[in-house]
Order: sequence, then C-alpha cells, then structure tokens
Amino acid sequence: MGKLWQGRFDGGTAANADLFNDSLPFDQRMWREDITASVAHATMLGECGIITKEDQKAIVDGLNGIYADMESGKISDITGAEDIHSFVENELVSRIGDAGKRLHTARSRNDQVATDFRLYARGAFDRLAKSLANLTESLVRQAEGSLDAVIPGYTHLRKAQPMCCGHFFCAYAEMFLRDLDRVTASRKRANVMPLGSGALAGTSYPIDRDITCALLGFDKPSDNSIDGVSDRDFSAEFAFDCSLIMSHLSRLCEDLIIYSGGEFGLFEISDAYSTGSSIMPQKKNPDICELIRGKTGRIYGYLTAILTVLKGIPLAYDKDLQEDKEGFFDCETNTTASVDIMAEMLGAVTVNKEACERAAEEDFCCATDVADYLTKKGVPFRTAHSVTGAIVRHCIDSGKTLQSMTAEEYRNFSENFEGDITSFVSGRACADARDSFGGASRKSVEKNIGSIKARLDTFR
Ligand code: ARG
Repeated sequence: MGKLWQGRFDGGTAANADLFNDSLPFDQRMWREDITASVAHATMLGECGIITKEDQKAIVDGLNGIYADMESGKISDITGAEDIHSFVENELVSRIGDAGKRLHTARSRNDQVATDFRLYARGAFDRLAKSLANLTESLVRQAEGSLDAVIPGYTHLRKAQPMCCGHFFCAYAEMFLRDLDRVTASRKRANVMPLGSGALAGTSYPIDRDITCALLGFDKPSDNSIDGVSDRDFSAEFAFDCSLIMSHLSRLCEDLIIYSGGEFGLFEISDAYSTGSSIMPQKKNPDICELIRGKTGRIYGYLTAILTVLKGIPLAYDKDLQEDKEGFFDCETNTTASVDIMAEMLGAVTVNKEACERAAEEDFCCATDVADYLTKKGVPFRTAHSVTGAIVRHCIDSGKTLQSMTAEEYRNFSENFEGDITSFVSGRACADARDSFGGASRKSVEKNIGSIKARLDTFR
C-alpha cells in the first residue's frame, strides 16, 4: 500500500528509512481507539453536511467491519503501513473505494494520533485504577486478619516501638489509595479531545467538535489547536503515577523480603509466590517481590525519557512525539501486572504471630513506654528519657530485658516506678497504648481500616 502522502514525492523511501520511521509495530496497540475515533469523525462529518449521508454510512459500516475483523482475528497480518492510522485508512479504501478517501477530510494525523492516544490512556488509567482498588482491598484484608498480632515497628531498620500488625498493612493501603486518587485526577486531565485541531491550526470546514466529543465521551474539546496536537502531559503524568506506584510497591517488596527472611521470620510468603534454587536445595526465594522491585527501574526510565523528549521540541507537532508511546505501553503492562500480582501474593502472606510478639519485645522495643510511664508520673520527659537510657544500659550489661526486670529493680533507677510497671512493658500493652488518632493501637487501626474502606468506596 502506498503512503498517505505519496503525491509530492518522486521516489519511494529507503527500506531502512521505513523501518526506522514506522510506528505500526507498536501503535497497532491502539487500533480500537483509532477506529472508534474515525467512526465518530465520519459521523460528525455527515451530521455537519461535510460529506454525504451515503458516504458517512459507507465509512462507518466499513470501519465497523474492520473492527469486527480485527477483533475476531480475521485480519491478523497488521503490517505494510506506516502507522495504525494509515493501516486502517488503507484497509477502508480497499473495502469501500472512494468514500473511504473522504474520511480524512478536516483531519490530520496530528489530531488523530493525539485523540487515539488519549482514548487509549483513558482506558489505561481506568485499568490501573481498578487494579489499585483491588490491591488496597487486599491490604485491608491483611490488616483485618492481623489485628491480633503485634509487630515491632522499625526506624533505621532497627526495632523502634511495638505496633498492631494491621498498622503496617494500612500504611501501604494509604499509599495505594493516594495513587488511586492521583490516577483518577490524571485521567480527568487526560480526558480532553484534540480531534478537530487539524494539523495544528484548526480547520476551515464547518465541523462540530461537540458532536465528536460527546460520541467519544471526552469532557470537552481542547481549547487551543496547537496545544491540542502537541500536548503529551498526560503521558508524562501516567509515567509519574506509575513511577510512584512502583516506588510504593518496591518499598512493600523490600519489607516483605526482609520480614520473611530467616533473620526476621515475621511473615511467610506462600510457596505459590516463591521460587527455588537449582543448586541449593533449602532455598525459597522471594522472586516476585524482587522482580517488582527491579521493574521499578524501567518505569522511572520512561518517566525520564518522556520528560526529556518533551523538553526541547518546538510547537506544534514534531516526529519526536512518536517516542511517547512505547514507554507508555511498557509502563502500563508492567505497572498493572505488578499491582495485580502483589494483590494476589499478599492474600497468601501469613503473619507468624508468636515470632512477631517476641520480636516486638526484643531489643528494648518498649523503652519509649518506660520513659512515658515516668513522664505520666510527673517526671519531665527529658529526665525520663535519660533514666530509661540508664535502665537499657544496665539491662545490656547484665543480660536482662525490660520484661525480666522486677519492679524493685526499676525502682533502683527512679522512685516513681510502682508495682504496675511490669504490666506496661509487654508488646501488646505498648502497641495498644498508642491510641492517638492515626496511631498503632488496635482501636486506632480499626478506625483506620474503616476510613480506608469509606474512602475506597468513593472511587467506585
Ligand atoms: N505515528 C505518528 C505518531 O505517533 C503519527 C502522527 C504522524 N504525523 C505526522 N505529522 N507525521 O506521532
């Protein structure tokens, strides 16, 4: 099939130039959107009297036929054209003849590709949102299932303070809920229709952009035709949204890897989401977590790529913009797959309650609560901190723990300690003491879970 623009040219393009220039190998991923947008465009052209009703019908029927044949696999050889737009137009002309040659009236591939891509992006945002909601639900289920467990919270990856285990899962649910919010907002900004912008300056035909806009479900037509054809903010936003999602996933993976390792032993990742070693028979490796963590790199890569593509190109359309798609598709495939597998894998993570409870009391994890005990008896916090520091030092030197110390031993450090001090230093007591809003007590976590569920519902 010839090029759409052959007329002005003396000879053909070099084979290597075609290979280098053609986008069909990857933009065919948008064939549905291309046909859908063309159906809307042809319908509008007919409604506005720019083409005859007969031509409108022939074009729409022809395009619907191509859609059906693509969907059924009857058309399987999608090659031989410069891009998906040329492919569909060539196919249409070969099916219906001259009427098909009227489809591109009052349109350029510049507003066409921008429209197709936004339609595609809209779907990608929606698919990602669905996956994020599902992952948030999975985290909430884990939080609910681990309300009874107490784990050590960490700072600097050193034991810090005991917390209700659900608090950990809810923290990640908060991140993915923010991601869901961000993806929803990005989708809204993306849902503006470039179609009708022409090559860059609009058109002299009496088109009605409100018709195509309504048919395609866009919120509004773009207000400036130059911006319409050259804006790819939505692609950069998608990459950023994916990057932050991957960052959150990567942190979760790192925590899961650490917590499920022999040295920590707090969680167990199911065999169904682990792999073994070809040489070391004992090995059970967290490959899924590692792969998600690793894939974060390519997603950040595309964010940098698209920002760099966009930064120096003159208005309006430049072929540089063809570089907007492959990274986008890769982001979509890998981010959505990562979110989905994480949701699945989390459902099969078990919390080792005994080990968690033990760990939550080890390494003086309850020391803050000893200081708080004194403070609540009237000792200034800084003094209480220093007294407790001396107690910890004493325990280290004499091989004791905050739990094995008797009340009398505590009193050697401050007369403000009473008999009840020993009941304040269990992991559970320390976790449940933190019942401030947003805190780590079971009650606070239950409230957090309720709030996450309510916020999640607003996205349905
Ligand atoms: N494949 C092109 C792209 O992805 C389509 C637009 C071509 N427009 C042009 N003026 N050559 O950007």
